[in-house]
Amino acid sequence: MIVLSHIQIAPLLRSFRKSVQEHSGGVSLSSDLGLTLVTAVLSREGVLFPDGERLTWTNAEVIADDEVACFALESGSIRKIQMFSSVTNRHCSLMPTTGAPTLLIAGFPMHRIKGTDPQRDTMEKIKAARPTGRALDTSMGLGYTAIHAARAGARVTTIELDPAVVEVAGQNPWSRELFTHPQIERIVGDSFDYIESCGDGVFNCILHDPPTMQLAGDLYSGAYYRELARILTPQGRLFHYIGDLKSQFGARIARGVTERLKAAGFKRVVPVPQAFGINAFK
Ligand SMILES: C[S@@+](CC[C@H](N)C(=O)[O-])C[C@H]1O[C@@H](n2cnc3c(N)ncnc32)[C@H](O)[C@@H]1O
Repeated sequence: MIVLSHIQIAPLLRSFRKSVQEHSGGVSLSSDLGLTLVTAVLSREGVLFPDGERLTWTNAEVIADDEVACFALESGSIRKIQMFSSVTNRHCSLMPTTGAPTLLIAGFPMHRIKGTDPQRDTMEKIKAARPTGRALDTSMGLGYTAIHAARAGARVTTIELDPAVVEVAGQNPWSRELFTHPQIERIVGDSFDYIESCGDGVFNCILHDPPTMQLAGDLYSGAYYRELARILTPQGRLFHYIGDLKSQFGARIARGVTERLKAAGFKRVVPVPQAFGINAFK
C-alpha cells in the first residue's frame, strides 16, 4: 500500500507547478512515508508509481494541504489513515513528521515531536530502559518501543487496548516489524487485565509509555504500579515515560508518580530527563 503525506507531496507539487516540462519524467519519491525511495513518473495527469498506482494532481493538492494526516493511495483514490474507536469513543489517526509518523489520539500526539521526532524519542526511551530478556511494553501504540526493544534483543510482549490503534499501526509503514518480528508478541486488551494474569517476577524489563494522565489516569495509579512491581524480577527495571521533567506540569506528575512507585515497592526511582521519564528499581 502506498502511504503519502504533505512531506513528500508538497515539494513535488511546488516544483511541478513551476514547470511541468522540466519536471515531467522520472523523480525519486517515497511511497512509504520516507522509509524508502522509488522512481515515479510525473505527467500532466499526475504521478505514476512503479506498481501502476496513479495519484492525480487534484488528490496531490488534498494531501499537500493537510499537515496532520497521512493518506493511503489505493486504486487511484486517497483516504486518510484514521479510525474512530468504538472502544474509547476517540478518533485516532496517523500524523506525519519529517521522520516516522506519530499517532494522534483525540488530537494528542503519542510521541514527542517538538524539537525531535518519534524515532529519536523512542531511542531515548530504549536507552533508558535497556531492554533485555523478557520485556513488557504496556502500551503498544505504533509499536516503536516494542520494535526497538526487540531489535535490542529482548523478547517483547506488547499490549494495546484499542483495536482502532492496531488498525492504524497496521497501515503505518514504520510499524511493519510489529507484525513480523519473531520476538514480538502482540496482545489486544487492557494491560491492567494482562498484568493481573501474569505470575510474579516474570519480566526483566517493563516499558511503560502510557498516554497522558488525562486520557489514561488508571495507568498512573498505585494499584497499577503494585502490579508492575510484582511481575518484575528482583533485578528488573521499569522505565516510565512521563513528559518533560523540567516543566512545571511534568515535575508535578513525576513527584506523584515517584511517591506512588515507592509505596508500590520500588526502592529506587531515578529521573531520566533526556528520556522524559524515570527508571524504577525494586
Ligand atoms: C503513548 S502511546 C504508546 C506509544 C508506543 N510506545 C509507541 O512506540 O508507539 C500509548 C498507547 O497506550 C494505549 N493504551 C491506553 N490505555 C491502555 C491500556 N489500559 N492497556 C493497553 N494500552 C493502552 C493507547 O491506546 C495508546 O496507543
